[in-house]
Amino acid sequence: MYKFFYNQIVSRLPDQLVEYFGGPFIGIIATFHFNKIISLPFTIANLKFENPVGMTSGWADSPKKINRIHKLGAGIVISKTITVDKRKGNPYPRIIRDKDILINSMGLPNNGVDWWENKLKANSNSHVRMHSIKGYTFEEWEILINKLEKFTEVFELNLSCPNIQEGIMDLKESMQLINDISSISTKPIWLKLSPEYPPKQNLELINKVRSNILGVTLINTIPVENNKLGNPMKIGGLSGRTIYPKLLQQLDTIRLSYFNHSELPIMATGGIVSNDRFWEILSKYKAIPIGLTGFLTQGPKYYYNVAKYIKNQMDYNEIDSVNSILE
Ligand SMILES: Cc1cc2nc3c(=O)[nH]c(=O)nc-3n(C[C@H](O)[C@H](O)[C@H](O)COP(=O)(O)O)c2cc1C
Repeated sequence: MYKFFYNQIVSRLPDQLVEYFGGPFIGIIATFHFNKIISLPFTIANLKFENPVGMTSGWADSPKKINRIHKLGAGIVISKTITVDKRKGNPYPRIIRDKDILINSMGLPNNGVDWWENKLKANSNSHVRMHSIKGYTFEEWEILINKLEKFTEVFELNLSCPNIQEGIMDLKESMQLINDISSISTKPIWLKLSPEYPPKQNLELINKVRSNILGVTLINTIPVENNKLGNPMKIGGLSGRTIYPKLLQQLDTIRLSYFNHSELPIMATGGIVSNDRFWEILSKYKAIPIGLTGFLTQGPKYYYNVAKYIKNQMDYNEIDSVNSILE
């Protein structure tokens, strides 16, 4: 039913309207969502998650939205990227929709770190909190970490946003930055990497900083041109169904050096829009499948349904724990 609603109505509405009403709409659905979260507990180091299905960074721009997505069945929810200053983002239109794919040029709109700090003070929740952050200078990274570290369990460093200037960071600069950040953060560091770098280069970066990071997320969106976008460069990030092969290329290379979850925890995102893709990522690539475009195009039951499918697969194959799949 949601697919019909999405294809016939949502995909034809101006993106500003969808952005504005999307949060409250999901809020109402989450309030009346009577399914319990599917329990498939697993761990990353000493962090315990309720199931290995999650929302990657991009939609949950407040603690309230994080809680809603969790309530809809996601065991992992990463916040939308937080910057020091409030950002309006790029001009509209900034999302182009098609079947199971999106091109977005959002440009990291968010309320800024002070807003987040205040909201987090007033918010309590039971699940592991992961916040995505992006600084423009080392001082900014420091501010983000100092203000958020008591409210987070993991920082995901967004080194790979194609929609802002210097969003996809130079690899040498990234290495230095990661080493510097790990010396000031009391919380583990997680990297969000770009498909703009060939897998071997991303692997080289991981090799250089492995002792300073807990894990990585592969991949951010792929920069493409589209004349319908409102930003003057007409560049946006492609996500969804068609970028899955790019994700697999990265995983194929990185898993040759880091065979499994214990060697390197990986969250995989990029076109994971069907049950069999979720299962492939988990069972073949020993990575944790997380998605965003699938949720936006398939609707609020996306995470719950996928977690149910994974549970059925585990029962069918007589697998008793998620961690045993990941090893
Ligand atoms: C509308 C939208 C907003 C996004 N915002 C962010 C963001 O704030 N930070 C980030 O690291 N990635 C962001 N992304 C990228 C996603 O986290 C993800 O890497 C990408 O969409 C590929 O996964 P998917 O195909 O499941 O959507 C965004 C993607 C979309 C579609």
